[in-house]
Amino acid sequence: MKKLNKGCFITFEGADGCGKTTQIKLLKEYLDKKNIESITTLEPGGCELGKNLRQILLHYDKPVADKCEIFLYLADRAQHVETTIKPALLDNKVVLCDRYVDSTLAYQGYGRGYDIDLMLNLNEIATSNLKPDLTILLDVSTEVAQTRVGSEKDRMEGEGLIFHKKVREGYLELAKKEPERIKIVDASQTIEEVFCEIKKIIEEFLNQ
Ligand code: TYD
Repeated sequence: MKKLNKGCFITFEGADGCGKTTQIKLLKEYLDKKNIESITTLEPGGCELGKNLRQILLHYDKPVADKCEIFLYLADRAQHVETTIKPALLDNKVVLCDRYVDSTLAYQGYGRGYDIDLMLNLNEIATSNLKPDLTILLDVSTEVAQTRVGSEKDRMEGEGLIFHKKVREGYLELAKKEPERIKIVDASQTIEEVFCEIKKIIEEFLNQ
């Protein structure tokens, strides 16, 4: 396996049901074939402590206060950055992360209506300002995403259509603000077509 000269942090974002998990798996296989060392991880739940927080965040069966939700996602992220992401980057690996700061901006910020700058400031504290080098945003209409999620929904997926539409709009807004970092991929296409686009973006990025 070959390592890059420097670690590289790539995040995947998008609505529930956009197909992130499948695409990350395909990209990991692709990097393995090219002998580039990488790890895949996720939020919430990318480290041991975070697995417990994920259980609460997605499956707690009583009401969770909005502010509690925000701080649980941030707590998960703070531990994840320190114990998983930073060590892998220091070891010059490619880190493929399923959700990161943009999820909090889209879901808690645009979705629940919390101030975006406040969400950004809190995230800067939680991550010691560690930013992704590249973000792939898988964009698909809320209606299509909802049918892909199916009927067994977790706590977040169970939020209504209006919430999920706000999340999608939020993501698109974020991409508009940072077009260099956030690349939008049309996730309504087939798995192969989506992966083909992602591969192109990644190749271009790694060649830089
Ligand atoms: P995820 O594991 O991606 O769910 P799925 O595999 O079903 O797409 O994400 C869990 C949920 O947590 C998802 O609904 C988005 C939400 N979330 C936030 O609301 N804020 C955050 O900061 C993060 C990381 C996730």
